[in-house]
Amino acid sequence: MISMTNVNGRIGYTDIGVHITPLWVIKWIEEHYGKIDLDPATDEENWLDIPNYYTKKEDGLKQTWFGRVFVNPPYGKELKEWVGKCYEEIKNTNEIFLLIPSRTDTRYWHDFIMNHADIIYFIRGRIKFRPSKKTAPFSSSLIYFSTQEDNTKIKSLKKKKNHTHTKSINDKIRARIKKENDYKSLEAFS
Ligand SMILES: C[S@@+](CC[C@H](N)C(=O)[O-])C[C@H]1O[C@@H](n2cnc3c(N)ncnc32)[C@H](O)[C@@H]1O
Repeated sequence: MISMTNVNGRIGYTDIGVHITPLWVIKWIEEHYGKIDLDPATDEENWLDIPNYYTKKEDGLKQTWFGRVFVNPPYGKELKEWVGKCYEEIKNTNEIFLLIPSRTDTRYWHDFIMNHADIIYFIRGRIKFRPSKKTAPFSSSLIYFSTQEDNTKIKSLKKKKNHTHTKSINDKIRARIKKENDYKSLEAFS
């Protein structure tokens, strides 16, 4: 069953079990740092068209990561494991970009991000994650891990507006929403 996502206590911000990263984030990383090699948290649709990816089946948390990594992990209670995994994987990778809600009061933020991240980019404004048409009910940060040195910098990152997902990704999103709606109508009859 495709589960509802509970983000900051709000059920149903996205209801197809995925919140897709806006393309401007990927373009911004690739423009400033270079091509992304691995997305360790996605599903069979590989929403961001990144050359290597892991789904729940391979379990990105159990794999060794490599190259330049971008991760927008599930935001449920497993989020802290993904943040810890980023810290662990610095040694195997060139760079890791982690897109997460700015929950600066959490233990994992203090244990793994403060001091161990190279840069915390606080995103100005809130992000719209497809398939939702609404902006997220929380603020986001892009965390950059690379050297494991204790010298964290904090910067502001301004959203870019001129990138939309490709037609093929938009078609996949529509197909996934349809599948979810068909599933719900079937449930209603059973
Ligand atoms: C927030 S979505 C991000 C999707 C995509 N990477 C993006 O940024 O647009 C999180 C994704 O992680 C997947 N996921 C959940 N648990 C996982 C696991 N253990 N290993 C790999 N992927 C997982 C979910 O199926 C979902 O597609």
